[in-house]
Amino acid sequence: MFRTALITGASAGIGRGLAERLAKKGTTVALVARRQDLLDEIKHGIEAQGGRAVSLAVDVSRPDDVVAAVERAARDLDGLDLVVANAGIAGAVHSRDITWAKVGPLLQLNVMGAIATLCAAIPDMVRRGRGHLCGVSSLAGIRGLPKTAPYSSSKAALSTFLESLYVDFHGTGIDVTDVRPGYIKTDLTANRPYEMPMLMELSDALDVIVAGLEAREPIVAFPKPLASALYASRLLPQRAYGSLVRRVVRR
Ligand SMILES: NC(=O)c1ccc[n+]([C@@H]2O[C@H](COP(=O)([O-])OP(=O)(O)OC[C@H]3O[C@@H](n4cnc5c(N)ncnc54)[C@H](OP(=O)(O)O)[C@@H]3O)[C@@H](O)[C@H]2O)c1
Repeated sequence: MFRTALITGASAGIGRGLAERLAKKGTTVALVARRQDLLDEIKHGIEAQGGRAVSLAVDVSRPDDVVAAVERAARDLDGLDLVVANAGIAGAVHSRDITWAKVGPLLQLNVMGAIATLCAAIPDMVRRGRGHLCGVSSLAGIRGLPKTAPYSSSKAALSTFLESLYVDFHGTGIDVTDVRPGYIKTDLTANRPYEMPMLMELSDALDVIVAGLEAREPIVAFPKPLASALYASRLLPQRAYGSLVRRVVRR
């Protein structure tokens, strides 16, 4: 059980679901996102069920703001046991249509914002000799997927950051978990014009994520068949991977 947790992107989807699940287990949750009205609604829902929550309206793509919010929550809640860098956006774009205007905001949130969230939590966890850092990355970060250069690369960066944290903090009392979901039914995947293999219900995905966090798993990659296929594809050289992906996409 976590005494306290801070979750970014807590106004919807995975972040909201995770906050509500943890609050039910007795965790005091700090809810971070931009939409204050939604955060307050979720906070009141948690309190109505006997839980505890605070809401912090922050644009996570502004690293200084998210650092200040994490530090404030750590002070107000007398330390954070768990920090989840979950806020993120996605978007399919063919590489011929890429512009910096399309790529910049995604990297600013998914990379800079997520890493700023984790960085802000580190000094206090190091001082206390305990804590749990988590990032919600994606299976899309395992290899460069088609029409996903900004998103795939943002998640690869976050996962690599988490992997180094895991190596450095091993045995120090600070746990690190990289959550790498496949497709989950949330606003992020709603009305997508393409096929999403093994699309999962949010509640099933939350079961997997909560179990992985409680077990202090370093990587929570799911659904397993999709994760295994993508990890196996890492063994393919670039040309073979490229022609396989082009064949799959053409189908
Ligand atoms: N759904 C999937 O299939 C899937 C698969 C793999 C990985 N993921 C990852 O899981 C994470 C959550 O995705 P989701 O599916 O739950 O998405 P979602 O339902 O669209 O929720 C996204 C959350 O992020 C917040 N957010 C967006 N921009 C923000 C900003 N600038 N500052 C602060 N908060 C911001 C949103 O709140 P506000 O709008 O109120 O700010 C919302 O709470 C993302 O990192 C995503 O890449 C999702």
